[in-house]
Amino acid sequence: MSNLLDNVRLIDLPKILDERGNLTFVESEKHIPFKFERTYMIYDVPGGEIRGGHAYKELSEFIIAVSGSFDVVLDDGQEKRTYSLNRSYYGLYVPKMIWRSLENFSTNSLCMILASQKYDEADYIRDYQDFKNIING
Ligand code: TYD
Repeated sequence: MSNLLDNVRLIDLPKILDERGNLTFVESEKHIPFKFERTYMIYDVPGGEIRGGHAYKELSEFIIAVSGSFDVVLDDGQEKRTYSLNRSYYGLYVPKMIWRSLENFSTNSLCMILASQKYDEADYIRDYQDFKNIING
């Protein structure tokens, strides 16, 4: 059985080194494998809090630790993998139908997410048992 987690990828972004300060950019469909329609940020996360325990039916996303660090815990219903993000010049590509949570935020961390679709509550799977049922057909 193919493992959905095998489609997850850490992707390096362009980094323009400059004595005046470094610069990183990301273009839709060029540096990441989808067209992004929306970006949102998670910040001021109190110590120990967990964000985003859910999956998306159709949405793909790219998660960047613009500042500080946090862990992205991914689960395809069979297996869990944890990715620690802590640099602004790479990010994690997470395809649809993977349960994910964001944990272990450092003080003053800033998480930026590029999303393939506009916000649509109907695309969320917020109940883990529902997620397992859909995955297992
Ligand atoms: P949610 O995605 O549930 O947060 P988390 O990643 O921690 O699971 O979003 C929290 C609330 O913010 C939710 O009620 C809807 C709102 N929201 C928007 O209106 N637009 C957005 O793009 C996002 C990501 C959330």
